[in-house]
Amino acid sequence: MLKKKTATLLIAISTFCLPPAVYSQNSDAKMKTYIDALMKKMTLEEKVGQLHLPSVGFDVTGPIVSKGVEENIRKGLVGGVFNTYTPNAVRKLQEMAVNESRLKIPLIFGYDVIHGHRTIFPISLGLSSSWDMDLVKRTARAAAEEASADGLNWTFSPMVDIARDPRWGRVSEGAGEDPFLGSAIAKAMVVGYQGTDLSLNNTLLACVKHFALYGASEAGRDYNTVDMSRIKMYNEYFPPYKAAINAGAGSVMTSFNEVEGIPASANKWLMTDVLRKQWNFNGLIVTDYTAINEMINHGMGDEKKVGELSLNAGVDMDMVGEVFLKHGVELVKSGKVSQAQIDAACRRILEAKYKLGLFQDPYKYVSEERNKSQILSQDKLDLSKEAAVKSMVLLKNSNEALPLKSNQKIAFIGPLVKDQRNLVGSWSGASDTYKNARSLWSALELRSDKSNFLYAKGCNLVDDSLIRNKLNPHGGDIIPDSKSPQQLIDEAVKTAQQADVVVAVLGEAFGMTGEAASRSSIGLLDNQVELLKALKKTGKPVVLVLMNGRPLTLEWEDKNMDAILETWFSGTMAGPAIASVLFGEQNPSGKLTMTFPRNVGQVPIYYNNKNTGRPFDENQKYTSKYLDAPNTPLYPFGYGLSYTSFSYGDIKLNTASMNPSQKITASMQVTNTGKVEGVETVQLYVRDMVGSVTRPVKELKAFQQVSLKPGESKMINFSISNEDLMFYNSDLKMISEAGDFKLFIGTNSRDVKEANFKLVK
Ligand code: BGC
Repeated sequence: MLKKKTATLLIAISTFCLPPAVYSQNSDAKMKTYIDALMKKMTLEEKVGQLHLPSVGFDVTGPIVSKGVEENIRKGLVGGVFNTYTPNAVRKLQEMAVNESRLKIPLIFGYDVIHGHRTIFPISLGLSSSWDMDLVKRTARAAAEEASADGLNWTFSPMVDIARDPRWGRVSEGAGEDPFLGSAIAKAMVVGYQGTDLSLNNTLLACVKHFALYGASEAGRDYNTVDMSRIKMYNEYFPPYKAAINAGAGSVMTSFNEVEGIPASANKWLMTDVLRKQWNFNGLIVTDYTAINEMINHGMGDEKKVGELSLNAGVDMDMVGEVFLKHGVELVKSGKVSQAQIDAACRRILEAKYKLGLFQDPYKYVSEERNKSQILSQDKLDLSKEAAVKSMVLLKNSNEALPLKSNQKIAFIGPLVKDQRNLVGSWSGASDTYKNARSLWSALELRSDKSNFLYAKGCNLVDDSLIRNKLNPHGGDIIPDSKSPQQLIDEAVKTAQQADVVVAVLGEAFGMTGEAASRSSIGLLDNQVELLKALKKTGKPVVLVLMNGRPLTLEWEDKNMDAILETWFSGTMAGPAIASVLFGEQNPSGKLTMTFPRNVGQVPIYYNNKNTGRPFDENQKYTSKYLDAPNTPLYPFGYGLSYTSFSYGDIKLNTASMNPSQKITASMQVTNTGKVEGVETVQLYVRDMVGSVTRPVKELKAFQQVSLKPGESKMINFSISNEDLMFYNSDLKMISEAGDFKLFIGTNSRDVKEANFKLVK
């Protein structure tokens, strides 16, 4: 059957030269010839049709469901679809395109494969806490293997928006607050998804999103206004997008927000000047979901006008909105948009299909056999557990409360102990993926010491009806217990009294982070804190295990809990991973990639801030501070403990001065001073002391992970080059400036040793 369909297609296009099976740089000329010939046959309507990306199928994230999609596919008026997967469903739509449309152009199939497809890995913020680029790459590779075996060839990932405001629900989808780490992760993900050859049947086209600055929405409220100086964009927010593009990402998604007063999807400066001209991006630009239509609300004009603005800005593909489909032809005929603009957009979409090998074989991602062997395969489950373990961050551990001892009676308390639904976080929609997730309790029940474990629910995950009523209509699945909150607490206290130690498993519902999930206060919900207070009163040691998707305010918990383990929403294998960390079979090594504030009033708070003219001085009144809280966060960027301890020697520089063509080597001895083996992420920061524009008080410039046995020491060497000292000046030129620098090395952005060096020119 497959062969027959393929043969039909190849005959149909045999008047053009056949595309090579494998796309490479050398194939550019062949691709051009092929697409030139194809485009000569296309009508204006068919070209505009390629710019249309409807959502079909299982899961929609917005208000508009595309109508008449099948009819449009047959008419050759659809470029691709998203939210459809499984070999069967994909084959059905692809057959329509290649058998029934006039030019038989195959469809591209997209989906939000964000942190795994069917096997779910930790949410992106969690995974970033591993600081392990190889791991990040391997999870993206595994996600591509699985999704491409489910009919897909395009993922709307990586999301690389720098985020410094934990009120914003989508911080869970990114890599945190730092441009250097964010860039490394962006690159690792693109390489993981796309591999070295996009035309293979196990690779996905990556889509960098959301261009640009989506993470800087005012007050952390989703979709809100963004306003920022260009110097800040270039130095602090653009680097991860640029890194993804340099790594070869084949597509970019526009963001919902405005930038300098113009919504991204109509922002010619962003789409054409920055992306195409400055960064030489030649892939396809797709809008976010109905982002063109939403420009009517932004106040940019009527539907036809916003379509015109978007096409002229350089956008290629309209996600769901049907604005190009409705108005594209007329916009060209009336001279508002040039034929050349439509041709360029159409060409980029055809090029993406060509590079994916779809003209060669439109069914190459449709294979029942691959589907069976790839989905939820053992190697992916093992990787999911490894990633979950490496993402966890130990925030506090006093009196060796952790690891748990096997001879202890342990009360596991909390609505998340037996939970499956929330473990996988948001963006894990593929076919009720969460049903495969392993709860903590299911992992505990497999242990030989299980007779030592007690359980009580303790509280509802969400008692707050305001939140519940917003989440439940969208699959929140939050059902209050038939017992009253007081009964639940009483039961939990009784259970705790029978135990030697209490493990409270609390946090957010998965729907409390992700898209449209901003919060104005970011602590544990009141009913959960009440439970913790009651447990604390029993006098038993209390270990708090957190599952959540953003930095939380945890001042009370930090003072009153014996240990706190941040596990994020850690995916399909969350349960076994958490159990192995709690019992010390694995030693946690994650480090925060977003600052945890003391209270929400400190937000935005991030480590790489500027010094101000009046930096805080406790002996001076008129310095930059709060009257009611310190400036410092509760847990700084880069922070995370281990079951062992590490000591740092002094920094040794091979020379204290360099010119731009030289390098400085900074060395530091790191020793495991504790009792168990552990992994430490050694972090290097730099401060440029004097600049033609103000420079941050610290900037991450390098990091290395080292595994050390008890008592073992290793010398860690970093090399600093001119490139590490460069920044965008007020002319937006990338330069370095001669002068004094401070170099810091340490276990997090706060606890560091320092040394000085000079750049001479
Ligand atoms: C989100 C994007 C996502 C798209 C498609 C939008 O609402 O902002 O991140 O890729 O939907 O599902």
